[in-house]
Amino acid sequence: MLDARPNRPDLPAEIARRRTFAIISHPDAGKTTLTEKFLLYGGAIQMAGQVRAKGEARRTRSDYMQMEKDRGISVSASAMSFDYKDFRFNLVDTPGHSDFSEDTYRTLTAVDAAIMVIDGAKGVESQTRKLFEVCRLRDLPILTFCNKMDRESRDSFEIIDEIQENLAIDVTPASWPIGMGQDFLGCYDLLRDRLELMDRADRNRVAESIEIEGLDDPKLAEHVPAQLLEKLREEVEMARELLPALDLQAVQEGHLTPIWFGSAINSFGVKELMDGIGAYAPEPQPARAEPRQIAPEESRVSGFVFKVQANMDPKHRDRVAFVRLASGHFRRGMKLLHVRSKKPMTVSAPVLFLASDRELAEEAWAGDIIGIPNHGQLRIGDTLTEGEALRVTGIPSFAPELLQAARAGDPMKAKHLEKALMQFAEEGAAKVFKPVVGSGFIVGVVGALQFDVLASRIELEYGLPVRFEPTQFTSARWVSGDKATLERFANANKQHMATDNDGDMVYLTRLQWDIDRVARDWPDLRLSDTKEMQ
Ligand code: G4P
Repeated sequence: MLDARPNRPDLPAEIARRRTFAIISHPDAGKTTLTEKFLLYGGAIQMAGQVRAKGEARRTRSDYMQMEKDRGISVSASAMSFDYKDFRFNLVDTPGHSDFSEDTYRTLTAVDAAIMVIDGAKGVESQTRKLFEVCRLRDLPILTFCNKMDRESRDSFEIIDEIQENLAIDVTPASWPIGMGQDFLGCYDLLRDRLELMDRADRNRVAESIEIEGLDDPKLAEHVPAQLLEKLREEVEMARELLPALDLQAVQEGHLTPIWFGSAINSFGVKELMDGIGAYAPEPQPARAEPRQIAPEESRVSGFVFKVQANMDPKHRDRVAFVRLASGHFRRGMKLLHVRSKKPMTVSAPVLFLASDRELAEEAWAGDIIGIPNHGQLRIGDTLTEGEALRVTGIPSFAPELLQAARAGDPMKAKHLEKALMQFAEEGAAKVFKPVVGSGFIVGVVGALQFDVLASRIELEYGLPVRFEPTQFTSARWVSGDKATLERFANANKQHMATDNDGDMVYLTRLQWDIDRVARDWPDLRLSDTKEMQ
């Protein structure tokens, strides 16, 4: 069952063996622990405990500040590449904190599948649900790992039901747990008819695996006590009767999620999940672009920026653009066209992110994530090609939900503050609006924590004290329409108008009523709470 994947013959082997995915979960479900075990089995780290950057979700504010200081570490954890069996896995980290949902959304545009980790005692939690919804928007295939089975957990049918009902996706069990909590013995691997027994004594040891010929094999009784065995047989029979069978197409279309039960901390069920990623997560998929879609197997290289990280080294104002390669075979030193500016760009120092290290990328293939150091030319949403004017689409920018005015602690440094804010805006860390009337800037974010992070970074990276203060505005909408109408509108609403860092027109207000009024009185204009990055 596990090698059911029909590889596409037109896809070069290097692309076909790539799996680029993210992990989505609620804080504390075990994302960091699972990542660490992935790296361990991928040979990228020698022992558990080396992934220092914890899931962002669990960081308190002070942790976050520290992390900002240790930027190199947190950044190298943003994308990790490692080999597992015949596969090359690219794991892209999703920031877990709900304050960073926009960043998360963009990250999910760079992957072909997501691993949903849930805590066996808690089931589907709020953050998982939100992230799942984002995956759903893109029909991303999802594989599920039900973690912490070594603890008292919920009944397996109950968990499956909850996923089906809460997330409206069908679930098919890839493994079935035997016992739970103190009595948890391991799992029956439904795809390979194997018994996987957990070793409680050694958390880093891979489970003992015993070949079984179906659930009636007498060998089972040698390893599983009678009572648990009876329950296992009953439950598996019921599961096979009631739940859909594994169907590769349904998984890849995002309608069906296979679920593995395990315990990340005990290294249990992790290899089975990794085998599952190889077998059921798709190879690099075509990228939506204008005027045409980009297929990974095209010989010409193309890629798009989904994340920018500024000031990785505060001593140099460098930035790293994270680029997902959409097609072709990339080699270091290639000259690519930066489509937005129409300028060529020689990519001489691309980096690959290997666990806690960065390394010069001599080559990379469609599906890989490379980092391109630059001085600000590369922005989120930019496309790079070997010459064709293509633009990858679907990387949005959301209207911020919180607005505050930024004031330089030292009025003489206002110009410097402007520069710092613009850099963060380009990085996608905040929206920066310059009001048409008056001075100063209005900064918009999605979650309140971002103001603290920004203030700390501006101080740390630019040596500028900054204050964020309440403004009269609470909402921002991008305005578009024909030039003459826009001008009339802007003149009639001067007090509400601002421009964003791309120079696009924005309407600021405090009242939903205002937004409704504009929609009614200016039918030729469009007010929008998202803007496509370009
Ligand atoms: P996160 O990144 O999703 O936030 O979760 P993380 O891996 O940090 O795990 C959260 C807590 O759950 C950690 O405990 C971790 O050790 C524990 N954990 C992860 N997998 C399992 C599992 O399979 N079984 C059990 N019983 N616990 C698991 P902590 O005490 O909060 O942190 P730590 O002191 O162990 O680092």
